[in-house]
Amino acid sequence: MTTPAWKNEYAVGIEDIDHQHQYFFLLIQRLQNLFAKGSEPRFISNLIDELVKYAVFHFKSEENIMEYRAYPHLMEHRIKHIRLIEELNIEKIRYDCGTTDSVALVAFLERWFTSHTTTEDAKFGNFVRELCQKG
Ligand SMILES: [Fe+2]
Repeated sequence: MTTPAWKNEYAVGIEDIDHQHQYFFLLIQRLQNLFAKGSEPRFISNLIDELVKYAVFHFKSEENIMEYRAYPHLMEHRIKHIRLIEELNIEKIRYDCGTTDSVALVAFLERWFTSHTTTEDAKFGNFVRELCQKG
């Protein structure tokens, strides 16, 4: 199993958001380590819960930053976050039911995370940069 690693291309250029994204990555790595060590299921389950709750917190935090910056696409972005949480919850249920395994779960989390940050969050990063350039 390849360890998901943070890459600079994931950065959106907004410090608070990038810190939170890096921490989310750390949680994915920690989960992979638990799987690799064959940790007890309760520790894995606890960490998956932590990961879902951190995602909910992070999306709220990101939306607050967007609102503060008067981001015109906040509502669309908020709807995308709701869908992402739904997808995450479905994947958690699939793992609990045994219809997906640890390798697939870690791969899902990395893909789930990077596909949103490098597209939708990156758009917000560009918006803030342009805003700052205009003074
Ligand atoms: Fe986002």
